[in-house]
Amino acid sequence: MSILDAELAELVFEHMRGVIIVDTDARVIYINKQWADIIGIDRDESIGKPVKEVLPNTKMDLIVQTGKPMNSDLFELNGKVYVCKRVPLYQDGKLIGAFSYEIFENMKIANEFIKMINQMSDELNYYRSEMRKIRGANYSINNIKGESKAIKRLRQQIYDASASNSTVLIQGETGTGKELVAHAIHDLSQRSINNLIKLNCAAIPTELIESELFGYEEGAFTGAKKGGKKGKFELAHMGSLFLDEICEIPTQAQAKLLRVIQEREVDRVGGFKSIPVDVRIIAATNRDIERMVEEKKFREDLYYRINVIQIVVPPLRSRKEDIGPISRSIIENLNRTLNMRIKGISDKAVRMLQHYDWPGNVRELHNVIERAMNGARYNDVLDEGHFEDFKDKYLSSSLTNIGKTLERGPQPLENIRNQAEREAIVAALNLFDHNKSKAAKYLHISRPLLYQKMNRLGIKL
Ligand SMILES: Nc1ncnc2c1ncn2[C@@H]1O[C@H](COP(=O)(O)OP(=O)(O)OP(=O)(O)O)[C@@H](O)[C@H]1O
Ligand SMILES: [Mg+2]
Repeated sequence: MSILDAELAELVFEHMRGVIIVDTDARVIYINKQWADIIGIDRDESIGKPVKEVLPNTKMDLIVQTGKPMNSDLFELNGKVYVCKRVPLYQDGKLIGAFSYEIFENMKIANEFIKMINQMSDELNYYRSEMRKIRGANYSINNIKGESKAIKRLRQQIYDASASNSTVLIQGETGTGKELVAHAIHDLSQRSINNLIKLNCAAIPTELIESELFGYEEGAFTGAKKGGKKGKFELAHMGSLFLDEICEIPTQAQAKLLRVIQEREVDRVGGFKSIPVDVRIIAATNRDIERMVEEKKFREDLYYRINVIQIVVPPLRSRKEDIGPISRSIIENLNRTLNMRIKGISDKAVRMLQHYDWPGNVRELHNVIERAMNGARYNDVLDEGHFEDFKDKYLSSSLTNIGKTLERGPQPLENIRNQAEREAIVAALNLFDHNKSKAAKYLHISRPLLYQKMNRLGIKL
């Protein structure tokens, strides 16, 4: 029986609540007995009447006008609230009417249902976070600190990527937080209850990479384990595979990787059958992968397969307003591991840190903070004074421009010395938040001499 028998359909409708069907003119075609009784109308008489006449505050007329459903809407009748669903009826793509029925008899039942769903969702979140600890995603989006526009955009991109199943390519300089991003994407995704498996392609000898990724069968090569071994793809089945430093993957393995992504099945080394896998790939690199593609060092077809969702993590120097919040979060974490109670970092110290360009990005900031904490007392607030090493480093990094000046061609030593002096003074002033006494002391000159030099070299604050 392909078409539902009318009698059977009617029987089903009588077992539902609040059923009403209208045609495209919003006239009643059908109303079930239970609903007619509640409204208090004669069923037969209501057939053919405009639905608004039968039920003045119904929205069924809107459904046939717009052709769009209302999935759960409140409907009030005689002081009682019903939760109903209204759907347009299409036949062969043409709108022929609309249909409505009750989902919940009253708000009390609806509320109980919502309460139950909320409770289940709380439980789910709890188990998710427990699973996360077991499954390997150590970071969540909450670990990505910062309030700059760039970092907010990054967090939005992470949310978008987590809702999709496509391959992600994370690019960014060293220490910008690519690993953090990869973990956060997995953690927010549907796959978070399954494994996040990580492979650092740079850390594995070329001859082992294929067996690591795809696994091997017993006897595949000398030294192969008895019973064979699962590869990372199999381990990541239903979860995510994080391929860190993807650019380091050897050419031969690139071809195989492409095949796995396209066919969604792996062939173990020395194996005879393909094993289907459902894995979401998240790749990361700090190298210029586009250039490697141009230079034929990275397969172009693989690049396109991987670069479906592209996330670029911006360097710290382009979002220096994040230095404060990130430093504070690093201090909190280090307080735990170093067993200290550092209360924070002064605004002046943050401003000082903001003058530096951070080629090592957040990882370098982490090291600088850790060194400062090691020199601090148990419950200090970190201040400029705690960053002596950093000051030297900063000063020498800002003096590297002299080299560039020399590259421009021969010039009098006098000019070069002036430039070196200017740079050193500006850097020292920045370092101490424009405090001239401290800058002078740092450069081992008197305050008047500093003024004199600033005048001569045209340094204005
Ligand atoms: N926005 C951020 N907030 C807090 N901590 C961060 C942030 N970004 C990075 N970090 C921290 O900085 C360090 C370096 O991050 P991560 O290891 O993710 O860098 P990466 O981009 O993978 O670097 P590499 O290319 O060298 O592997 C980690 O300790 C990480 O926790
Ligand atoms: Mg990394």
